[in-house]
Formats: sequence, C-alpha cells, structure tokens
Amino acid sequence: CEAVEFRKNLLEWFTKNKRDLPWRQRAVQGSLEERVYSVLVSEVMLQQTQVNTVIAYYQKWMAQWPTFGDLAGATPEQVNEMWSGLGYYARGKRLQEAAKEMSKKTIGIPCSAAELQKSLPGVGRYTASAVASIVFGEKVAAVDGNVIRVLSRHRVIGADSSTNNTVNEIWKIADDLIDPQEPGKFNEAMMELGAVVCTPKAPKCSECPVRSSCLAYKSTKVREKAQLSLK
Ligand code: ADE
Repeated sequence: CEAVEFRKNLLEWFTKNKRDLPWRQRAVQGSLEERVYSVLVSEVMLQQTQVNTVIAYYQKWMAQWPTFGDLAGATPEQVNEMWSGLGYYARGKRLQEAAKEMSKKTIGIPCSAAELQKSLPGVGRYTASAVASIVFGEKVAAVDGNVIRVLSRHRVIGADSSTNNTVNEIWKIADDLIDPQEPGKFNEAMMELGAVVCTPKAPKCSECPVRSSCLAYKSTKVREKAQLSLK
C-alpha cells in the first residue's frame, strides 16, 4: 500500500540524512516538562525564521532560560532583547505568556495537541501538533509551509495552496500518511524533506526518497521524455 511504502522510504532517508540540530537532542532529554519546553521554543522560533539563523538564538535562549519557570521570571525587556534579530516580536512575548501559564501550579503539563492549543497562548494547530507528536508520540500531523509544498507536489494539487480549503485537504492527507509508530519523526522528516530536497526552486528530485510515487515527478519525466522524442 502506498502509505506504508511512503513512510518506510521517508523514515529511512531521514535516519540517514537528518541534520544534527540542537533541539533534536533536547527533545529526548530530561523531564516531560523540559522536553515540551525545548521543542516549543524551537518550533516557535522556526515558524518564520530559517533553521541556520535559529540555531544560535536557540542555544543562547536555552542557556539563559532552560525551563518554563526561568522564562516566566524574565522581564519583557530581557525577552525582547534576546529575540532581537529573529523578527516578529510577538512570538517571543507569547512564549513568555505560555511560560507564565505553565508555571501556574493549576495547569499541569498539557499532554495532547488539543490541550496544548487550548491552554497555551499563541500555540496554534501547527505548534501544538509538532510538540505533541515529537514529545508525546501523538499521532497528529504537523503541516507547515514545507509540508504543504511537499504534499502539493506529491499529489499535484492544482488548487492554490494558500487557500483554506487546500490547506485543510493537505492536513487530511498528512493525517492519513503519518506513521502510527513514529509520528514525531515522520513530521520532522516531512519538514526536513521540504527544507533540503523538495525545495521551492530546483528541487533535488534525484535525491528524493518518495519520488517513485510523486505525481509531479512523474509528470515532469513524461514531459522530458516527450521533449527528447521531439529532438
Ligand atoms: N521547521 C520547523 N520545525 C522543524 C523541525 N522540527 N525540524 C526541521 N525544520 C523545522
């Protein structure tokens, strides 16, 4: 079945090719609360900023505020200063609000995507799903811009991928494709594939682990063959 083949090829590729990023080490270290914190900070930073820029900011941030409690105790000025250069300052402010919420004794650790989204300010569907799949192994897809591009190409969804309908359709496809045993790894592998292989310009199809079932790849090959036969 196609989904089984897709998962197997994607996860094998990811295991061999994944980048060594600081939040990937922290995601498996420490208490559940520390892991939620480390993954949440990385996912919020990565929302509108490139991986290469995020790395140094992430390390500095985690050295300064290694837990929700530490971040809750920072001043807004300190948070702004630390965020300076990452852009979209509201993200840093909301992270701190989430930390304050977490530090209230009443809430405990929200341990599903639905609870994370409901109880933490600024945590939307993508962030909640990324954290829940990576930290709790919950079987929920996390669809960011990279994943939208990968799946639009794989399925050749002709519709404008910035519309709500198309994006909802892609979430559904991703929820069907996700690996039930390793949902967090699957989500990270999809993002990684979009970031390093299925790039916006000049995708590296020859390196792609799922090209055998990719409709965009197939149609390009058909076009190339037709052009060859014309020569
Ligand atoms: N972009 C957003 N989240 C990411 C992650 N966990 N790994 C790689 N790229 C990402």
